[in-house]
Amino acid sequence: MSAEKKIKSLHQQINQHNYNYYVLDTPTIPDAEYDRLMRELEQLETENPGFITPDSPTQRVGSKAATGFAQVKHDVPMLSLSNAFSEEELTAFDTRIKKLLETGKTIGYVCEPKLDGVAVSLLYKQGKLIRAATRGDGYTGEDITQNVRTIKSIPLVLSGDDYPGELEVRGEIFIPIAGFDAFNDKARAAGQKTFANPRNAASGSLRQLDPKMTASRPLDIYFYSLGKVEGDGIADNHMDLLAQLRGWGLRTNPEIQLKHGVQQCIEFYNAISDKRDSLAYEIDGVVYKVNSYAAQKELGFVSRAPRWAIAHKFPAREEMTVLQGVEFQVGRTGALTPVARLEPVFVGGVTVSNASLHNLDEIQRLDVRIGDTVIVRRAGDVIPKVEAVVMEKRPKKTQKIRLPHKCPVCGSEIIKAEGEVVARCTGGLFCQAQLKETIKHFASRRAMNIDGLGDKLVELFLQQGLVSEIADLFSLDKDAVANLERLGDKSAENLLKALEKSKATTLPRFIYGLGIREVGEATAKNLANHFADIDSLLAADEEALVAVNDVGPIVAAHIRGFFRQKHNVELIEKLQKLGVHWPKIEKAAAVEQVLAGKTFVLTGTLTSITRNEAKDKLQALGAKVSGSVSKKTSYAVVGADPGSKATKAEELGVEILDEQALLKLIT
Ligand code: IVH
Repeated sequence: MSAEKKIKSLHQQINQHNYNYYVLDTPTIPDAEYDRLMRELEQLETENPGFITPDSPTQRVGSKAATGFAQVKHDVPMLSLSNAFSEEELTAFDTRIKKLLETGKTIGYVCEPKLDGVAVSLLYKQGKLIRAATRGDGYTGEDITQNVRTIKSIPLVLSGDDYPGELEVRGEIFIPIAGFDAFNDKARAAGQKTFANPRNAASGSLRQLDPKMTASRPLDIYFYSLGKVEGDGIADNHMDLLAQLRGWGLRTNPEIQLKHGVQQCIEFYNAISDKRDSLAYEIDGVVYKVNSYAAQKELGFVSRAPRWAIAHKFPAREEMTVLQGVEFQVGRTGALTPVARLEPVFVGGVTVSNASLHNLDEIQRLDVRIGDTVIVRRAGDVIPKVEAVVMEKRPKKTQKIRLPHKCPVCGSEIIKAEGEVVARCTGGLFCQAQLKETIKHFASRRAMNIDGLGDKLVELFLQQGLVSEIADLFSLDKDAVANLERLGDKSAENLLKALEKSKATTLPRFIYGLGIREVGEATAKNLANHFADIDSLLAADEEALVAVNDVGPIVAAHIRGFFRQKHNVELIEKLQKLGVHWPKIEKAAAVEQVLAGKTFVLTGTLTSITRNEAKDKLQALGAKVSGSVSKKTSYAVVGADPGSKATKAEELGVEILDEQALLKLIT
């Protein structure tokens, strides 16, 4: 293709993506792919300057204002930022600045998290908010005053009296992650449109034609720059301006810090990168800005971006790759999980070649087929996930993903119960995959806590035929273990010691370790406390089981089903014969379940009691203790140095208790 043709084609593609992103709030490709298309176009235009046209996407920022809102002309254009994707590019930026300023001195940079939201410009006259506009194409935006007025953290009137008569302030409107999740949950339940990410949600919420709709969304803002200003008194550097803004009641990001030189900037970048997943909002990098306004003025602008600032982007969390196949993994309860085999792709800082597809419903929802180009997302330590299909890249020939009729591991029949999303292998412990997962679960830290019996070793024992059921673990022969590859005398001895030690357990751990479907740690504890010994549990009928806190008919049916199988009862007997034992449980004097139906979340450090003790006490009173905050949380107990759960609770309007209030409830 000739350069001219290629440029034209890129114009077309990028314009379409701009439209999807800015007007429809529904991007179809990852940001990283968009950035590559832009870079490719920029490169071609640099090599062929004759083909640069005024309507090229490189010549403007964002997209044309959408219809439905009045237009606002920006007296001071709302420009974009250049990007740096590496430390080298950042160093080049710093070198360039020193050269332009003709200085050898270390430069002071204000380091700001780069928020992933919607840029807005707010005009205050005589301290009163009179207009709010989106960035639009950088020169003309949309008038969203009515919508912005519904955002509670934006002052309609400025505080103090030392603000300029006319003040245009700019910042980023965003939706905190908790609010975004809650919104999508609700929309999904109501069968309405969900948003792909918090940024699209913020943008879509701001561009509602009915301000009442905007008011119902949890929007927030951080301010970070100025537009047109008339009047005196503005600081002569950026750090001081931010302090002034705060004084006038305009929120600024508390993470912002002044740093000196590239090295310190990189330290800031790394620190924020580590903190990224505990922040209440999405960020996609760090913006470094020359602190001195005199220096900023001297540096000026180049095409559509300032020379005095740069955005240092985090590695993309979403990338495109090809789905090469799908395998079904069999879990502890026989559930089949589809796993995507991908053409390896670098995303979220690592190379990924497998990703989760959850279940068949998800496959159907995504309409994903083998051969498709898909968007893979990897955030933090979370398992990579196939997010979406890039439909415009679907090849002519694709292959539908089908559920196998037989278990890929043991060949047993696969069934998918009516109305259930999960398909299961019916092989039970005859299936090596289920057996392996069952043994792993039994040995796990929160169950029997058999130190050193990890994934690989369980696999090896099964392969070598040393173990064919749980009970075999306790009659392992030391020499046979020591002879296994990679193991030696010492490790074998340690393992046998750990096995011996694990025999002294507790009834809740033992029940949990059996791996009964839907019986997690909390339920196991409730069952143990209620029945006090294993024989009473074995003998319990449905009526007796549902009398236990947290046990409903479904869980009761799983428990009954488990103990109806002879081999499970035999296993329990065998284990006890082999020496597994637990202290007797005193039947708890019937404690009144005063907190039944209430859900607690604990965060931060408590001083007079540990979190586990608090958890036990709450549960004894009938409360549920959950690990994450949701709309269903009744109380968040917040100790010292709380984590992001406290922020989330606040955002969702969950009642907050301090340690004193908690102690009152439980003592
Ligand atoms: S300063 C002249 N600071 O990034 C440059 N922008 O790519 C003015 N953004 O349109 C922008 N966080 O939407 C600035 N701390 C921050 C930012 C930030 C996010 C966005 C903003 C801007 C885009 C530029």
